[in-house]
Amino acid sequence: MPEDFTTCGAELIGRSIRVLPVIDSTNDLLKAEAEDSISDEGDIIITEHQTAGRGRLNRQWESPPGKSLLLSILLKPEILSEKLQLAGLMVSLGVLDGLSGYLESENIRLKWPNDLMAGGRKLCGILSDAGVDKTGRNFVITGIGININQTPVDFTELLRDTATSLYIMTGCQHSRSAVLKLVIARVDEHYRRLKTEGGDWIAPAWLKRAGITGREIEIIDNNNTIRGICRGLNENGALLLELPDGVVREIYSGDVN
Ligand code: BTN
Repeated sequence: MPEDFTTCGAELIGRSIRVLPVIDSTNDLLKAEAEDSISDEGDIIITEHQTAGRGRLNRQWESPPGKSLLLSILLKPEILSEKLQLAGLMVSLGVLDGLSGYLESENIRLKWPNDLMAGGRKLCGILSDAGVDKTGRNFVITGIGININQTPVDFTELLRDTATSLYIMTGCQHSRSAVLKLVIARVDEHYRRLKTEGGDWIAPAWLKRAGITGREIEIIDNNNTIRGICRGLNENGALLLELPDGVVREIYSGDVN
């Protein structure tokens, strides 16, 4: 029996959940709808299969049909446009809390900017696309891909050594709707906090679950590698990297190693 995702919503996030069997990219459709102001804050599009799923830094996001959670959420957080990166960090915290609650485990960590890692392997990726609607209001689409029931052979050879899924972590199949309900509930909680309190709490809360402050890290961006000590995040969610000469640089994109 197909799983029913339409009843997994919370107070604000997922008041409307649309399920499409196949689509190019949930982010692309929801962004087009948000630009035309025909979708509302909190709306979710979820699909069983993407033919052109997108990842960060122009990468592809591939997943065999029916094995993962592939969804996008429309957020209108009313924060300054330079702080929109905080929306992605907030969603990654919500997904982390939802998955940690589901697994009753604290073993999942955050990796800047928005990845969720388990045992050093990627369990979830999040892609944020910002835009402006017809009324001039800023919005962010946060697209979430959570690996749920993939076995190792479901991943391409390239990803097999770096990706994981709930199935690989636990050795059993999981109900995607049960996971989704918990994830949406926690994202909803964090989003409503962002709307009432602003975003100042997000970077410190995110850092607690990433464990990178004070550690030596490597940032790879456009074939450039820079090394330094992580000094946390700034108020906009940029990573602070102390270079060997003592200068602290704000990093807005790239991969962390
Ligand atoms: C990354 O880690 O590179 C981000 C991956 C984000 C993938 C999700 S799947 C649902 C949504 N639609 C997309 O096209 N991408 C995001």
